Amino acid sequence: MNYDTRVLAPDGEALQLAARLFREGELVAFPTETVYGLGANALDAEAVLRIFQAKGRPADNPLIVHIWSEDQLGPLCEVTEAARRLMAAYWPGPLTLLLPKKAAVPDAVTAGLTSVGVRMPSHPVAREMLRVCGLPIAAPSANLSTRPSPTTAAHVYEDMNGRIPLILDGGACEVGVESTVLDMTGDIPTVLRPGAITPEMIAKVAGDARVADSVMRPLREGEAAPSPGMKHKHYAPKGRLTILKGKRENVVREIIRRYDESENAVILASTGNLPAYGDRRVMDMGPDLSAAAHSLFALLRQADDEGVARLYAEAVSDDGVGLAVMNRMARAAGFDIEEV
Ligand code: TXA
Ligand code: MG
Repeated sequence: MNYDTRVLAPDGEALQLAARLFREGELVAFPTETVYGLGANALDAEAVLRIFQAKGRPADNPLIVHIWSEDQLGPLCEVTEAARRLMAAYWPGPLTLLLPKKAAVPDAVTAGLTSVGVRMPSHPVAREMLRVCGLPIAAPSANLSTRPSPTTAAHVYEDMNGRIPLILDGGACEVGVESTVLDMTGDIPTVLRPGAITPEMIAKVAGDARVADSVMRPLREGEAAPSPGMKHKHYAPKGRLTILKGKRENVVREIIRRYDESENAVILASTGNLPAYGDRRVMDMGPDLSAAAHSLFALLRQADDEGVARLYAEAVSDDGVGLAVMNRMARAAGFDIEEV
C-alpha cells in the first residue's frame, strides 16, 4: 500500500481508468447518493481482501455488492417476490437488501455468512462507473475503520491517501448517511441499519417491516449482532460526544451548563436553536432531518480537524430519516444519551 493517489473528475477517461483498475484487482473510491464507497471487483476474493487492508476493517464485517442492473443479480443471490417489489419501488436508491447468497460470491465479501447485501445506487457517477466496468462491485464506506463515513472526495483523500490508486470526485453526497440495510431472509423484512428508506416506506410495499431492537441500543455482553457492523465501534469522533434528549428548553439549558464547564467544547444544534447558544461555539446541523443526515458526518470530521475535545449534541426526532441520524449519533457517542 503505497500509491500516488489520484483524485479525478468522473469524465469518460477517468471511468475507463476505474474499469481497468477494477479488472486488475485494484481499489477505486467513488461517490454514491449516501456516502463514498471503496470498491473492488466483488467476484475477485483477493481484490476484496485489499478493501479490508486499506480500511483496517475487521474481517468479520461483510460488504455490500453494488450493481447497476437487476440482470446482474442472477449469479449473486436468490431473489424473493417481496424483494422484487422493493427493488421496483426503491431501486436505484439507498436500500440494501440481504438475500440468500450464491456460490459465485466469495466468502471474503460476506464474511462467511449465507446472505449477501445487494444495492443499486442512484448516484449518476456510481451508475455510470458500474455500467462501464460491467462488474458487481463490493464496497464499504470509504473511511478508515471507526472514522465517520466520508461524504466528500476530500474526506476520502484524508483517510485513503497513499492506500488506493484512484478517487472519483463527484462532489458532496446528497443523503449523507449510509443505505438502509434490510434483512429479507426471515418472515418479516427487518431493518438492521436505518437509512433514508424508512420502515414505513418498506411496510407500504412489502406489507410489513420491523426494526431490529439493536438499532438504538448497545449490544449486551455476549449477544450476537444481527449485522456484524453493529458490534464494532463506529463513526466516532476523537472528542467525547454526549447527546441530550428531552424538552427543547431543558436540552438547551443543560447543554449550555455543560459546555460552560468544559474546555475546548462544541455544540451540535439545529438551525432554529442556534440563537439560544449565544456566542458559544456551535455547529449547525441544519433546519430539518434531511439536512441533519446530510451534515452529520462532515461535522464530526470537522470537529476532529479542529481538535475538539468535547461535543454536546441535541437529539433529533426519530421520525423518517431521523432514526438513521440518531442511530449514527448514538454510536458516535458510545450510547452516551441523557434524558433531561
Ligand atoms: O450506503 C451504503 O450502504 C454505503 C455505500 C458505499 O453504498 N456502504 C456502506 O457499507 O455503508 P459498509 O460496509 O460501511 O456498511 C455495510 C453494513 C455493515 O454494517 C455490515 O455489517 C452490514 O451492512 N452487512 C453487509 N452484508 C451483510 C450481511 N450479509 N448480513 C448482515 N449484515 C450485513
Ligand atoms: Mg461503513
